[in-house]
Amino acid sequence: MIIRKSTESDLSNILYVESQAFGNHKESDLVNGLLSDPTAMPLLSLIAVDDVKAIGHILFTKAKFTNNNDSVSAVILAPLAVIPDAQKQGVGGELVKEGLRLLSESGVDLVFVLGHPEYYPRHGFKPAGALGFEAPFPIPEKHANAWMVQELHPGVIGSVNGKMVCADVLNQPEHWRE
Ligand SMILES: CC(C)(COP(=O)(O)OP(=O)(O)OC[C@H]1O[C@@H](n2cnc3c(N)ncnc32)[C@H](O)[C@@H]1OP(=O)(O)O)[C@@H](O)C(=O)NCCC(=O)NCCS
Repeated sequence: MIIRKSTESDLSNILYVESQAFGNHKESDLVNGLLSDPTAMPLLSLIAVDDVKAIGHILFTKAKFTNNNDSVSAVILAPLAVIPDAQKQGVGGELVKEGLRLLSESGVDLVFVLGHPEYYPRHGFKPAGALGFEAPFPIPEKHANAWMVQELHPGVIGSVNGKMVCADVLNQPEHWRE
């Protein structure tokens, strides 16, 4: 398996991976929209390829603080997808790890995710609400731990807080129901 940045010619394979992984078209439509959303830029889109077949995809898009704190660079991880046949073989984990490595290199400070609270902590994410970061839409109390954050440079958490704004295409309430 190799993991690489996706190109325009990967689009149909990415949308296939998303719809296979989630079993519907909601996430593939979301990804299709985000990949051409100017407010999502700069974004990082990585694809996992096994021989010639796309088996996984991860997307990180631009996030900002509502208080215009531009001293900190932030992104949101959404979505992460691995086709059913390739799940539980470490592909998702490798996509997360490579994504965080590239983001750290490019100077990103904070990575947010709304996702499975049992999955992302194994890759370094912590509940974000308790650390002072509010999601773009309210997260119901019983799912509060699904809104998570990770700092890529020590000392960022604790030095900033506030409400996040995501890219326009992601900025719809239906994408914020865990
Ligand atoms: C979640 C997903 C990306 C994980 O990818 P993967 O390649 O199977 O993940 P990995 O192989 O790196 O890790 C597998 C481990 O994560 C666990 N895991 C997978 N999905 C999980 C979930 N929803 N909640 C908790 N743990 C989960 C597996 O049980 C496995 O645990 P183990 O190592 O103890 O056996 C993949 O299952 C997927 O695409 N699911 C459908 C789409 C989805 O839910 N995406 C995430 C949106 S937040």
